Amino acid sequence: MSAPTLPRPTAPAAVEERVEAILARLRLEEKLGQMMMGERASTTPDDVRSHHIGAVLSGSGSVPGANAPADWVALNDALWAASTDATDGRAAIPLLYAVDAVHGHANVRGATIFPHHIGLGAARDPALIERLARVCAREVLATGLDWNFAPTLAVVQNVQWGRTYESFSDDPALVAAYAEAFVRGMQGTLDDDGVVACAKHWIGDGATNEGIDQGDAVLSPEALEQTHLPPYLAALRAGVLTVMVSFNSVNGIKCHAHGALLTGLLKERLGFSGLVVSDWDGVDQVADDLDEAIVRAVNAGVDMIMCAADWRRRLIGLAAGVASGAIPMARIDDAVRRILRVKVRAGLLDRVRPAERPWADSETFGSAAHRAVAREAVRRSLVLLQHNDDVLPLRPGQRILVAGKHADDVSHQCGGFSAAWQGTHGNDAIVGGTSIWQGIRTVSPDATLSVDGSAADPQRHDVAVVVIGEMPYAEGMGDIRPGGWITPPLPGGLFTVNLEPYGTTLQLASRHPEDLATIEAIRAKGIPVVAILLSGRPVLIDRELAASQAFIAAWLPGSEGAGVADVLFGAHDVTGVLPLDWPATAPAPDGRAPIRFPRGFGLTLR
Ligand code: GLC
Repeated sequence: MSAPTLPRPTAPAAVEERVEAILARLRLEEKLGQMMMGERASTTPDDVRSHHIGAVLSGSGSVPGANAPADWVALNDALWAASTDATDGRAAIPLLYAVDAVHGHANVRGATIFPHHIGLGAARDPALIERLARVCAREVLATGLDWNFAPTLAVVQNVQWGRTYESFSDDPALVAAYAEAFVRGMQGTLDDDGVVACAKHWIGDGATNEGIDQGDAVLSPEALEQTHLPPYLAALRAGVLTVMVSFNSVNGIKCHAHGALLTGLLKERLGFSGLVVSDWDGVDQVADDLDEAIVRAVNAGVDMIMCAADWRRRLIGLAAGVASGAIPMARIDDAVRRILRVKVRAGLLDRVRPAERPWADSETFGSAAHRAVAREAVRRSLVLLQHNDDVLPLRPGQRILVAGKHADDVSHQCGGFSAAWQGTHGNDAIVGGTSIWQGIRTVSPDATLSVDGSAADPQRHDVAVVVIGEMPYAEGMGDIRPGGWITPPLPGGLFTVNLEPYGTTLQLASRHPEDLATIEAIRAKGIPVVAILLSGRPVLIDRELAASQAFIAAWLPGSEGAGVADVLFGAHDVTGVLPLDWPATAPAPDGRAPIRFPRGFGLTLR
């Protein structure tokens, strides 16, 4: 039985009084330590204690011990104990532990993994998003953590962008409605059931030229105000406590050094009183000299510096910036005030240690009830793009062949930021869910699996379900770059960090010819095909459409692949509609393209 949560000040005045009382007692080294976020692999409890580290994160795939909830609870319990060690007159300020639970707590083995944002956009239901966020919060709390780097509020403008699947839609109004619902579901009333949310990535991440991740977004004041700002206004209205800075530039200026956007717009004009956290070593990109970069980013409005590995070097740079006067003490106090305000409003200072909290290592983690909510989201995310010859719904008595490289692969259903940053393969790393094949076999036990389709036999099969699409990817490694691997030069000669992009064309038949080959081989035997596309975005599919009777966009459905069978066999109608325009050709650099299927398109079976 955990200790009762102590009553804590919730009225702004009481919060401010508490913040000022703590701030007044802090030594400079404690203030600077609070501004540092170390990564799990390079930040020990002793580091937290000796350097007053304000937060720790797990990058995607960075997991403790056996990667069970109990391992996570133990890790944060040790870090939390170190941060609240008041010996030698230290200020006992609990640290925040953050993770990317962007579509469920997908780092952790056995977690409930929901469809990525783009699929949730197809459901067009903010109430569903709030329920999903609540389930996700419970699973984050089961691991003893308290900060989630979600929601991503990108309004994607060019589907060549590798992070398209992290955007809910190209419609600002839908992203705004989802932003409010997600923050409400995640933070709740910030009692023992709430997790601190993070609106990201500020700002214009989905609008870069040619969709190049971390590239330059050329935004008019109208585009900024009408397209990219509304989701953040909604998140702020819902009380989001943190905002993460984007890697991209806006009109040639890196967001991490953009004082007008970080301070002028977000903090002053919009009155955001929470904390602004940098992205993963994002501070480094704003100047050739690291110490100068730290000065520019902190003076622009970065309050907490997220460090991929070497927080010590960046703490030295921060201290040097203060010692030289390049960073005014007033800016340091403002940053620390914001960090303390988040910790007070999140109830962190009054909460018992992670191991004693109500949800710690709870059996609700990955529970059937949680998976049922994710399965509902899967079936409501599906969009029927084509339906000929009344091939759907399938009937359990039919002789069904299931084929395609993604037919029995839960990892490919989940995509990036799932078990590993770039995702994984097969059914070992992500457990507790169901593949699309397993869902179909449950309804139709006589169904047969033939991944390459070679077992197709018109004497034995009435219909084939072929699961095709993109392989997992994340961030810039998911970019489609028609110009090949390019490092976009940015003003000042600075460039973004680029890894190998996913490809040079959105044409699925060019990027993955194996998919069309499987469909055509089955069709050549006279067996009708229901194609299921797993992808992080719209791709060019004219040849696959022409070869199939029915075609469903399933996006990246997550761990509950059985939700696809719920629609295939008619237990539920297919109700999803496109959350963004589906292009007919490769988009222009600004993302515009002739439209194959417009946003809002989706067939039904009833
Ligand atoms: C990544 C992503 C960001 C994520 C952060 C921490 O680079 O840009 O969305 O929250 O690092 O993993």
